[in-house]
Amino acid sequence: MLKVIEQTADFAGEARYCPPAPRPQPRPLGPIALIRTLKRNPLECWAIQHFEQPIVAGGLPIGHVLLVHEPGAIRRVLLDNAANYRKDRLQRRVLSAGLSDGLLSAEGEQWRLQRRVIAPIFARKTVMDFTPAMMGAAEALVDRWAGLGDHATIDVAAEMARVTLDVVERTIFSDGFGSDAEDIRLAMATYFNTIGKISPLDILGAPDFIPRFSRLRVHSTLKFFEAAVDKVISARRQFLAEQPDRAPNDLLTHLLEARDADTDHGMSESEVRSNILTFIAAGHETTANTLSWAMFLLSQSEEWRERVGVEVDRELADPVPGIADRLVETRAVIEETIRLYPPIAAMSRVALDDDDLSGERVRRGSLIVISPYVLHRHRLLWQRPDAFDPRRFLAPARATIDRFAYLPFGAGPRKCIGSTFALQEATLVLAAIMKRFSFQLKPAHAVWPTLRVTLRPANGLPMIISRRRS
Ligand code: HEM
Repeated sequence: MLKVIEQTADFAGEARYCPPAPRPQPRPLGPIALIRTLKRNPLECWAIQHFEQPIVAGGLPIGHVLLVHEPGAIRRVLLDNAANYRKDRLQRRVLSAGLSDGLLSAEGEQWRLQRRVIAPIFARKTVMDFTPAMMGAAEALVDRWAGLGDHATIDVAAEMARVTLDVVERTIFSDGFGSDAEDIRLAMATYFNTIGKISPLDILGAPDFIPRFSRLRVHSTLKFFEAAVDKVISARRQFLAEQPDRAPNDLLTHLLEARDADTDHGMSESEVRSNILTFIAAGHETTANTLSWAMFLLSQSEEWRERVGVEVDRELADPVPGIADRLVETRAVIEETIRLYPPIAAMSRVALDDDDLSGERVRRGSLIVISPYVLHRHRLLWQRPDAFDPRRFLAPARATIDRFAYLPFGAGPRKCIGSTFALQEATLVLAAIMKRFSFQLKPAHAVWPTLRVTLRPANGLPMIISRRRS
């Protein structure tokens, strides 16, 4: 039974600010309009009934589709009967072009083995040890900003992409990308811009051998990545063989040394490479968007700028491992940010067999779409769903949120392996920025969310920054 999440008494009546979001369509779009809108901005496809009804059955040109936004049914798809629901072709293709044997898109036994080997690498303790690396990247960012002088205009979206890539470099390859770093950054941007566009051929279910123009462009970019990453991997393998006691404490060492506890098998060369690329692809853009939206939302809320400012002045003096756990208000801002603007705005699965979801019949081959964006703004699940209010994520209100009503990182066996890493990173970087800078949106800039693989601000996010006097 659906229940609107209860919030504390002081929660009600405050927090009126509703950040920009497309107004839901009055009724579901017809096939032509749907394909056109999916190509332009999939976020604009959702109709009001999706935000008001638990499960909506619909037809796409590719067949029977169920749009599922009821926590009990979601639990069944992602957890209780997860074996019956496989990641679907479209999602795998859009999210992971070219990374077919990385954790994000592997299936069956290959996925199970990889997940078992990789899980310890993203355990809390390992992630906490990355605090200095993450803070190092955050400090490098704010130091660079300090050099720009007061009232400088920056593109926050580009800056956040830069700092999260720096975190990737410091945590995966602690000895850096080397001389290719700038080329790798450029290749990354091209890659995301290209795979972000959903081809109408994908929606129509055209087979893989029909070339998509956009994919042809990605191919050479991906080849460039692979060569650059291969160079770093082989240099590290050699180093580990020659000087095992001096192994850098980073994700690359962990991946090369990881062994399955039962079989003692490590990962093949191509699995290591695919997973490195997967971590970059899955972790860099998502966290960058989280930070961009968080800065935007803070720029619109004096109350939360002040609250976070007080917290970082008090807590950030000594950035030791575990510090992120003490930044509870900063973290609540991050969690509310990815409620309103979940970087992965939709997940999809294909039913392998008939099933029943809260009374709705699922047929073998049905496509199940779960959109965290719709779920997090569902009228039956949240009070004032479109309003920005991080208090939802502070005790005691936090405990009232159903595990399956809030899914920025998914759920069940395929939930995000990097969630602890991402939350810690976003919290630390936002805290470091808030300690040193105040910022405001460039006047007259219209902010608008758009979905290109990840949910990001269209046309960047220009802001005017000045050093903060705490
Ligand atoms: C705010 C940042 C992030 C968000 C919102 C996010 C979101 C997600 C979501 C929703 C899924 C599940 C997709 C599905 O079930 O269909 C997922 C899976 C995954 N994420 Fe993340 N992610 C983030 C950061 C990261 C980071 C930092 C890494 C790694 C360094 C990472 C690596 C992965 C991998 C490897 C998977 C596939 C797991 C599997 O299938 O076993 N993500 N992520």
